Amino acid sequence: MVWFLVAYRKIKYMLKNSELFQEYVRIKDFFKIEFGLVLPEKLNQANTKRLEKFIEVSGGLNGSLKLSQHKNQVPDEKLLGLISLFTVNHTAFFRENKQFEFFKEKVMPNVLGPNFEHEKSELRVWSAAAASGEEPYSILFTMLDYFHENGCKYTGDILATDIDIKALNIGYHGVYRQKKIEGKISALNQRYFQKHTNGNLQIAWDLRRKVLFRWLNLNCDQYPMKRKFHAIFCRNVMLYLSQESREKIIKNLTEYLYPGGYLFLGISETNLVQRSDMRSLGDSIYQKDY
Ligand SMILES: C[S@@+](CC[C@H](N)C(=O)[O-])C[C@H]1O[C@@H](n2cnc3c(N)ncnc32)[C@H](O)[C@@H]1O
Repeated sequence: MVWFLVAYRKIKYMLKNSELFQEYVRIKDFFKIEFGLVLPEKLNQANTKRLEKFIEVSGGLNGSLKLSQHKNQVPDEKLLGLISLFTVNHTAFFRENKQFEFFKEKVMPNVLGPNFEHEKSELRVWSAAAASGEEPYSILFTMLDYFHENGCKYTGDILATDIDIKALNIGYHGVYRQKKIEGKISALNQRYFQKHTNGNLQIAWDLRRKVLFRWLNLNCDQYPMKRKFHAIFCRNVMLYLSQESREKIIKNLTEYLYPGGYLFLGISETNLVQRSDMRSLGDSIYQKDY
């Protein structure tokens, strides 16, 4: 009798796992085709938990898993939940800080010129895998420092996009734990935060509204923005993408740069830009030809 029970449980466990695995394969294919994201071949423990959570909350995948590549269509709520579960959003304020130093010391003076008049000049920056907002706000603080030091009013424009709606929501509300700010943000820039609940801090509204948070899949065929950018940050996402998607996205991003514009990839994302119209400046920073 005991052996029967053991065998029964084992078979039940195997069946459940095989169903889970089939579901996982569908999700894995969907992520690769639609977003270019490569999930592990094997269903590891972390992804099993994510999948079980998804099934518990949304009842699993029923119906087709497809997006409209051409329209960069925002998926329905269920798919948005799935995307949030399987994307890696690790980020930090002033992550890979030397790129922000470069942005302030080289990009801003180059784009704006030495004696810029803020009514006429503009600086358009896109944080293309913005996660929960730390990156676009670090760009904003860098811009503010520069304008402050040069006695000018703010004249920048920041677009922040991602496929993880939950992360974008955090960015939009701009509420962060004290721990995320201490040691990362200069004492001067801490004035941009105000006390929120439970010891959390929130970026002041007049600054938050300078960053436009939008859902956008970098792997889609056509981006909806009408105008180009002086600098694009697309950092620490390439390492999760297939080679085919990396090439497609780098091509798309390059087209969205003004002549002389700058592309920032993650510092560990080396040797990915092999294009004759993009010059490497070191530290995974590239400049488009004039
Ligand atoms: C590790 S985070 C990087 C955040 C930030 N750029 C940084 O370097 O700190 C990677 C982000 O890329 C986003 N992502 C993954 N695939 C994407 C795609 N196809 N289009 C847009 N965003 C994507 C994820 O949702 C995640 O928030």
